[in-house]
Amino acid sequence: MKITIFGTGYVGLVTGACLADVGHHVLCMDVDQGKIEKLKNGQIPIYEPGLESIVKHTVEAGRLAFTTNTEEAVAHGTLQFIAVGTPPDEDGSADLQYVTAVAKSIGQYMDDYKVVVDKSTVPVGTGDKVRDAVRSQLDKRGLELEFDVVSNPEFLKEGAAINDFMKPDRIIVGTDSERAMELLHEVYYPFNRSHDRMIFMDIRSAELTKYAANSMLATKISFMNEIANLAERLGADIENVRRGIGSDPRIGYHFIYPGCGYGGSCFPKDVQALARTARDCDYDSRLLNAVEAVNNAQKHVLFDKISHYFNGNLKGKVVAIWGLAFKPNTDDMREASARTLMQDLWNAGASVQAFDPEAMEETQRIFGDQPGLTLCGTKEQALKGADVLAICTEWKEFRSPDFESIAAALKEPAVFDGRNLYEPEMLERYGMIYYAIGRGRNQFHGG
Ligand SMILES: NC(=O)c1ccc[n+]([C@@H]2O[C@H](COP(=O)([O-])OP(=O)(O)OC[C@H]3O[C@@H](n4cnc5c(N)ncnc54)[C@H](O)[C@@H]3O)[C@@H](O)[C@H]2O)c1
Repeated sequence: MKITIFGTGYVGLVTGACLADVGHHVLCMDVDQGKIEKLKNGQIPIYEPGLESIVKHTVEAGRLAFTTNTEEAVAHGTLQFIAVGTPPDEDGSADLQYVTAVAKSIGQYMDDYKVVVDKSTVPVGTGDKVRDAVRSQLDKRGLELEFDVVSNPEFLKEGAAINDFMKPDRIIVGTDSERAMELLHEVYYPFNRSHDRMIFMDIRSAELTKYAANSMLATKISFMNEIANLAERLGADIENVRRGIGSDPRIGYHFIYPGCGYGGSCFPKDVQALARTARDCDYDSRLLNAVEAVNNAQKHVLFDKISHYFNGNLKGKVVAIWGLAFKPNTDDMREASARTLMQDLWNAGASVQAFDPEAMEETQRIFGDQPGLTLCGTKEQALKGADVLAICTEWKEFRSPDFESIAAALKEPAVFDGRNLYEPEMLERYGMIYYAIGRGRNQFHGG
């Protein structure tokens, strides 16, 4: 099938590559010329395991191509996927300007039947806005062409995006059109062979499903962080509590890891946007507001512990940070907890020596001018001359480090672990003081 994808970010590029991989003919369009240039030269602008080889072989096979030309993009696909960003507006609502711009372009250039498939995460009712935007352009052109609008939210996880796309738990398709339903069925047929993963519904329910899924996951994390904060005050160990409750199949082990807060391009903005949607329809979403407030506070917990360790005097201290990306296996630093920690440390007069296996370029791009930041080529270099170590991302290479050399390199033998990677007893054996999240009374330090 001929498919156009607008937006070649994490979602658009993965979607385009995977659809081309199973045999569809995909044209990816982006307004970012630099990105498209890179892609045309075989460079992948983001770090996503497995993506590069799929892009390479599908381009070579002639099934995946890139363009900045809107007219060419609209002409290519019967299916027009929208996978552009929906960042938070000033009031927390999702900014729909990019989605609407694409919808307008489709109306401006289409000259036969199109299915406009919205993959971006958008508030309930956006399907109607997309339809209106396409139709108003057709009206301007005096055309009465047929088109359908579909909501097809994406559930992939950065870092495991290819696998998630290739083997989805579910494919949500919201539409009121039989014709669009059949086409979407055909698009996704290759991903749907072992059992039927497609769930058809109305557009509004599909739009809400995406927000509900992310908000539920964020709620689990904030809940666990709240219990972790309680555990510190009560002298309990959250890791025991986690195992204790995870064993109940009604609760399960997924997404109940305590830590220094969730980040990324989705959870923070989606929880905020849903709360905003609630306010717009005169519903006070106390739960969603609390999930966000708990998370915002949680991002400062590591700093509070470090500050307490130094009796509130961080001037001139050097903190090594391992992990800058918002989670492992990505270079994405949007809303990452490490950003909050670095900012807190700089505000308190400390400096940072930072290392991340993939996000160094991104850190350089965002914080390159920051005088209190030294970017280090390895995790060992980050420790050299540092007073203490803080961990913000649970990359595999941090899980079993050489504790002896950590203890030897640091001026103070203290590790502040925002992802609970180690056993406290183990670090004690190496003469280190270990501060994690929610692991007993000695872990509580104000805040
Ligand atoms: N990143 C994730 O893990 C993830 C997962 C599920 C859903 N989503 C949702 O998918 C959407 C896209 O997210 P992302 O992380 O891929 O965003 P991104 O910021 O990585 O990429 C968006 C791309 O859209 C391009 N763009 C903007 N306007 C355009 C236009 N008019 N025409 C063509 N391209 C245009 C931008 O240049 C950019 O390259 C968002 O709504 C997001 O909430 C993201």
